Amino acid sequence: MESIEQIEKQALAELSTADTPEALDALRVQYLGRKGVLTGVMRNISQLPQEDRPAAGKKANQVKGILEKALDKALLRLEAGTQASGDHLDVSLPGRTTLTGSLHPVSQISQQMCSIFSGLGFDVAEGPEIESDYYNFEALNFPKNHPARDMQDTFFVSDDIVLRTHTSPMQIRIMEKTQPPVRVVVPGKVFRCDSDLTHTPMFHQVEGLFVDRGISFGDLKGILTAFVHQMFDEKTSLRFRPSFFPFTEPSAEVDILCVMCRGKGCRVCSHTGWIEVLGSGMVHPALYENVNYDPKEYTGFAFGMGVERIAMLKFGIDDIRKFFENDIRFLNQF
Ligand code: PHE
Repeated sequence: MESIEQIEKQALAELSTADTPEALDALRVQYLGRKGVLTGVMRNISQLPQEDRPAAGKKANQVKGILEKALDKALLRLEAGTQASGDHLDVSLPGRTTLTGSLHPVSQISQQMCSIFSGLGFDVAEGPEIESDYYNFEALNFPKNHPARDMQDTFFVSDDIVLRTHTSPMQIRIMEKTQPPVRVVVPGKVFRCDSDLTHTPMFHQVEGLFVDRGISFGDLKGILTAFVHQMFDEKTSLRFRPSFFPFTEPSAEVDILCVMCRGKGCRVCSHTGWIEVLGSGMVHPALYENVNYDPKEYTGFAFGMGVERIAMLKFGIDDIRKFFENDIRFLNQF
């Protein structure tokens, strides 16, 4: 009897310090298992004197029941404890949000540019980034071996195939397929073998083409002025400087009044007060011949502008390469 009580005491003491389900399991085996301490005692009852057996058997069964209950209870207590300390719900924590994607700043500006032109009556079209020499140069009046081809450091895919160096090839593709009036803008990627603070080998342009009867340089100025006023504001004035492109005559480069210093001169405008934003001009008659338009009947203008350049001015970014480093902390700001 004494040794049964002893076993009960010891088992309950060990049980009270067991702090893992595994430790409880081990105790169950140690006391109640097939070779367990209590099981052994119960087996030996048959060797007791006849008169002691009933009391000892009763006591042993009682203790067995007590230990089983105590083990079950301890296990429940442990499981509840794990939940309270590890898995519990802390309602004061900030919620987990799903990251949502958004448009790249260059795409935002490109879309904004197209939507302004769309409001001025232009269609929006896109074209191939891998272009033939014919569309990128030849049909645009760049004679073979002409130094003007060097103006645009070209990535050659093969002798006759290039990564387009500008969106102007779409002028030809569009005029080949449609009769005037043509009023279209073309956003897209262009490629030049060039890389520094203000140049990346891939950048974006928006091309514009307007051909109809009686279109003059005045229309070119009017449309571009309306565009700049909507893109920036009414106080942003424009300056047309004579320039050269093989596919326009006359040609003009367009500067806008520096949006940072309003013409006073600062780092952004290299202290000139003006920032060059696009190339433009009246469509060269040679192009009309290449697409079977009658140059005596139709005139028109074209322009091409860099999207990154405009985006940098709009957002106040000073290094073009930031657009393409895919740093989410930078991109998240727009
Ligand atoms: N394609 C010229 C460039 O990339 C820009 C341009 C477009 C100039 C249309 C005149 C007319 O520099």
